[in-house]
Amino acid sequence: MKKPSLHSSPSTIPFILLSAALVALIFFVVYPNEFRLQSIVTSRCGSRPPSSVATFIETVTPKPDFRLLMGILSLPDSYERRHLMRNVYALQSNITNAQIDVRFVFCNLTKEEQRVLVAMEIVLYDDIIILDCGENMDHGKTYAYFSSLPKMLEGSNGGDRPYDYVMKVDDDTYFRLHNLAESLRKMPREDVYYGLINPCWIPQHKTNYMTGMGYLLSWDLVEWIATSELPRKNQVGPEDFQTGLWMREGGRGKKFNMEPAMYDYMEEPRTCHRHEFIPDTIAVHKLKSHLRWARTLNYFNVTAGLKPSKLYHIP
Ligand SMILES: *[C@@H]1O[C@H](CO)[C@@H](O)[C@H](O)[C@H]1NC(C)=O
Ligand SMILES: *[C@@H]1O[C@H](CO)[C@@H](O)[C@H](O)[C@H]1NC(C)=O
Ligand SMILES: *[C@@H]1O[C@H](CO)[C@@H](O)[C@H](O)[C@H]1NC(C)=O
Repeated sequence: MKKPSLHSSPSTIPFILLSAALVALIFFVVYPNEFRLQSIVTSRCGSRPPSSVATFIETVTPKPDFRLLMGILSLPDSYERRHLMRNVYALQSNITNAQIDVRFVFCNLTKEEQRVLVAMEIVLYDDIIILDCGENMDHGKTYAYFSSLPKMLEGSNGGDRPYDYVMKVDDDTYFRLHNLAESLRKMPREDVYYGLINPCWIPQHKTNYMTGMGYLLSWDLVEWIATSELPRKNQVGPEDFQTGLWMREGGRGKKFNMEPAMYDYMEEPRTCHRHEFIPDTIAVHKLKSHLRWARTLNYFNVTAGLKPSKLYHIP
């Protein structure tokens, strides 16, 4: 680049270079630590953090009892909620004999900043699934999710099925992974439709289905959704009701109702799906504010491991 204002005759160029080199040398001699610090920072940025932050895999035994994919339906812009949920599940990563992979699921990116900010999350955590769909509620995102998985995950577990179970979970639901895993250990591995039945006041009602707070299907049902006409032709409609309809009309999915271990955050009026916290909780739903998350996490002693320090004071 030429700077017109600088009159650089051939004789002044070596002089400028020489003085620049001299300044650099003096700087290095006087402040050697600055150079060292710079190189440490650079090398730290270049390395990836331990992947255990994102993947909740406990390899105590070579073969886990079961493998579960927990897909949390998210929106590209929900950066803050994803951050909270990563923390919440990272604190429960000590599940033994089961593999639980927590992933965030959304449709196509649409904004310029998402291409970088979402990509950055993937580089760091590798816990995001982007489906080929336009972001929607009740227009087939659930169908896109389940029906995409067999192709997306093909071969990911050698010749075996990629997962035994797949969940679809709301981003305002808190799952207690230990209790969830214990309840699944004794379940069959096929034809399972697990969750909280709605409507709860008439559980035998013929149009009942598992509420959207979070439900689980065994892998055979996911494959069935991906290959059958019935779900494909009935994608659109109230999301979770539609899943119930596929199961009912297709004559599939043995229902496992987790009441009262799955419930909504307590608020008046009390209903059959809404009650106070209980120790044997599998999931709490309707955590729509930071305060509700905090009260829920506090009940389950999630921060009990906090070490005392002079560096902070938390009343
Ligand atoms: C996992 O960690 C939590 C919190 O640190 C602890 O309360 C729980 O007992 C641990 N569970 C297992 C199975 O080790
Ligand atoms: C989603 O993005 C993919 C890849 O860019 C594109 O091929 C596809 O048409 C998009 N789908 C929708 C529904 O927007
Ligand atoms: C949380 O810790 C308290 C005090 O140790 C204990 O009494 C309570 O049972 C714990 N709650 C749960 C849900 O484990």
